[in-house]
Amino acid sequence: MQRDSNLYIYRALYSQLKEDILTFKYESHEKLPSKRVMSQHKNISVNSVKAAYEQLLAEGYIYTKERKGYYIEPLDKLIVETEQQHTVATFDTKSDAEFDYSFSHMSTDISEFPVDTWTKMMKQVFKHYDHYLSSIPDVKGPFELRQSIAKLVSYQRGIHCHPEQIIIGSGTNSLLTNLIELMSENVTIAVENPGYSRFRTLLERTNIQMTSISLDHKGISIEEIKRMRPDAIIVTPSHQFPMGTIMPVSRRISLLNWASKTHSYIIEDDYDSEFKYETDNIPSLFSFDKNERVIYLGTFSKTLMPGLRISYMILPTNLVQKFDVQNQSTIPDFSILNALTLNLLIKEGHYEKYIKRMHQLYGKKRAYLIEQLQQTFGTRIDIKDTQAGLHFIVEVISSYSYEEIESRAKDYNLELYTINRFNVKPLQNNSDRKILIIGFSKIQQQQIPEAVQRLKKVITDSSGTIE
Ligand SMILES: Cc1ncc(COP(=O)(O)O)c(C=O)c1O
Repeated sequence: MQRDSNLYIYRALYSQLKEDILTFKYESHEKLPSKRVMSQHKNISVNSVKAAYEQLLAEGYIYTKERKGYYIEPLDKLIVETEQQHTVATFDTKSDAEFDYSFSHMSTDISEFPVDTWTKMMKQVFKHYDHYLSSIPDVKGPFELRQSIAKLVSYQRGIHCHPEQIIIGSGTNSLLTNLIELMSENVTIAVENPGYSRFRTLLERTNIQMTSISLDHKGISIEEIKRMRPDAIIVTPSHQFPMGTIMPVSRRISLLNWASKTHSYIIEDDYDSEFKYETDNIPSLFSFDKNERVIYLGTFSKTLMPGLRISYMILPTNLVQKFDVQNQSTIPDFSILNALTLNLLIKEGHYEKYIKRMHQLYGKKRAYLIEQLQQTFGTRIDIKDTQAGLHFIVEVISSYSYEEIESRAKDYNLELYTINRFNVKPLQNNSDRKILIIGFSKIQQQQIPEAVQRLKKVITDSSGTIE
């Protein structure tokens, strides 16, 4: 028997006997040697043999007869269908940690995150909120956090709501799934095109009909909405994803009027509205709505970090009761520990301070990146510089296709996404003008010059000149 110092002796005997039983070296109902005989045979203690036998007994490999000993349980041979044996494909799954530089629009900079404060708040949660932690929580999330969010959206987004209208979730996608469950099966939901591809993927997996609506210079096309007649639309009015348009008030009013006239819903995805440069925050669509037609989606993925997985939904009052009745026995899917810690972070003013700091940091990185892009590309780049969010769009000249640009970026260890990813149908590659999404939150200020040089290499021809 192998005597590995790290392996308990009994584990070695247990493993060996288990293997022997499974490979039918023992007959069904055969008696195992007594503990004493086995211990002499293996030169180990009786206690080790006892522990191994007890473990095999607990797992059902052997049974006992009182005062007689241990016997082998009759087992069927486990069927192994050889044609079912698949090898796991190795996908191209380069994680963003492996990139030297990142222009990702998804990630945030956590280098300044107040880890010590977060830990302090978490300890307070253990001390004062043990009743929450030790039981199954309310599906809508801790009331205290919903109260804090209600205050936050009141002064940040002009939304005046009751905490009962707020539902916490582990992400916008999971909240959207909850929302879909409130709707009847034959509804049609429209998404923006180009738009957030994760919503499209989610809707494609449901029984819900999905349609996509193109954009004009004001955002989602109202003419197309009227033509397609969806029952609900998902929009990003504060900062259209990915194009960056801030929806002007005229389009907001048209949308709200369409929703009231047709009794449709507008799902407002307000994913990065906390970051506006040079201008003040633009009030949410929810705050304009006087007819209970808007459902608001907010997230802490941009202000804090995507890894936190805490987002929220604000329902119009006409949907609250339906949600409550339908979710009476639903168990929430997010970490209550994190939710309560976040509540204290907001309540004690740390959250607001952090956003202010990050706002400044992102503002500086953004300005420096724009300067570097202009210097490097000159007239060969058109920067659609909306003063909002954590990304902007650029149009560059490149003879490479969108697929080639994304794969070349990987080769250059640069995380980069093109508009192709967010369009319902892949774009034709017959124009040299290519649209890229440039996120500036993850990249560090000092990395910007080198990252821009790599971008230049990615989109230029093989000789290294921009043509
Ligand atoms: C357009 C858009 N909507 C919503 C979200 C937020 O998603 P979640 O709250 O699930 O992290 C993101 C995050 O990157 C986003 O880009």
